[in-house]
Amino acid sequence: MKLLEHIPLLQILFLAQISSVASLQRAPKITTLLETVDALLDHNATFICEVDSDPPADVSWTRNNEPIRYYDSRYITKENGQMLIIPNVKDSDNGEYCCIANNWIGQPAKSCGALQLKMKPQIKRHPMDITMLVDSKAVLPCVTLGYPKPDITWIKDEDLVKLSDRVTILDYGALKIHNIRKEDAGQYRCVARNSFGIAFSKPVTIEVQAPARILRVPKEKRVPFGTKVSLECNATGNPTPTLTWLENGNTISEASVEETLVGDVVLSVLHVEVKQPALYTCLATNHHSGGANTVKATARVTVSGTSDLFKHARLTFPPKPYRPGEI
Ligand SMILES: *[C@@H]1O[C@H](CO)[C@@H](O)[C@H](O)[C@H]1NC(C)=O
Ligand SMILES: *[C@@H]1O[C@H](CO)[C@@H](O)[C@H](O)[C@H]1NC(C)=O
Repeated sequence: MKLLEHIPLLQILFLAQISSVASLQRAPKITTLLETVDALLDHNATFICEVDSDPPADVSWTRNNEPIRYYDSRYITKENGQMLIIPNVKDSDNGEYCCIANNWIGQPAKSCGALQLKMKPQIKRHPMDITMLVDSKAVLPCVTLGYPKPDITWIKDEDLVKLSDRVTILDYGALKIHNIRKEDAGQYRCVARNSFGIAFSKPVTIEVQAPARILRVPKEKRVPFGTKVSLECNATGNPTPTLTWLENGNTISEASVEETLVGDVVLSVLHVEVKQPALYTCLATNHHSGGANTVKATARVTVSGTSDLFKHARLTFPPKPYRPGEI
């Protein structure tokens, strides 16, 4: 007070005016700007917006330009609003956050930063083994989590699946195969990858089934009476078909059948002694996921040296068991 006595009153008033403008009243200034926050899933994310302001500023927050209300239980604010905490961050919390400091003196100050969830890829839904019929359409799902959104690739038997018009990866990661072929059978897994890591699905198998199909049809034969002939029939399919022979539409009793499996082809050879003209039918049957099917091929075996009339007669009567000396 002693000092003041020596300063003229006018000067005191002037100083008071300066300080009220320059020191006590100033627009807010953000001294710690918002930064991009990389948050791990289920961890807390914190934004700091340190404000220098006199009088103290009101600090409010926005997410993607929408105001965050102070009563919103999703968020916690501390330090007079200068700290925003987002507990247990989820994918849905990604976005741009801004703080706005306003003390109604001059312009409000604003600073913005992004929240980026970071999350290693995870396989949320694994594909499963499937059995498909050839020419059908197969879809193997692969549902993933991760941030940034993982890139999905598929591997088959340790090689990258080649994409084409027929083989595609859908937006949500599933592998789709049109007109499935035998060579599509194998072991598959999906691979999800982002900048934070990689995840593999469990391996699954695509089995491709095919209806029975006869490749080699038995040949027509004309042989002398009593000749032993061999008729060949081969068939493929998945599961492996069973082959059976019929004589004039009936099961054969006096014949021998040789069967060999070569790869996925069953070769069946019928050995029969020709005592009468007959029709021999090879039947190939399999049961697959689409149901069951039977295909057949027939060959006529005629006896040379018999008249056409006789041959005709023998065919129209029901077949009789052969007895020596009958003809
Ligand atoms: C996240 O924030 C909540 C609420 O403030 C707190 O209880 C919890 O301990 C925090 N978790 C971590 C991992 O910091
Ligand atoms: C089956 O028949 C086809 C057509 O005649 C032939 O090319 C193939 O070699 C045969 N396979 C076997 C195992 O007999």
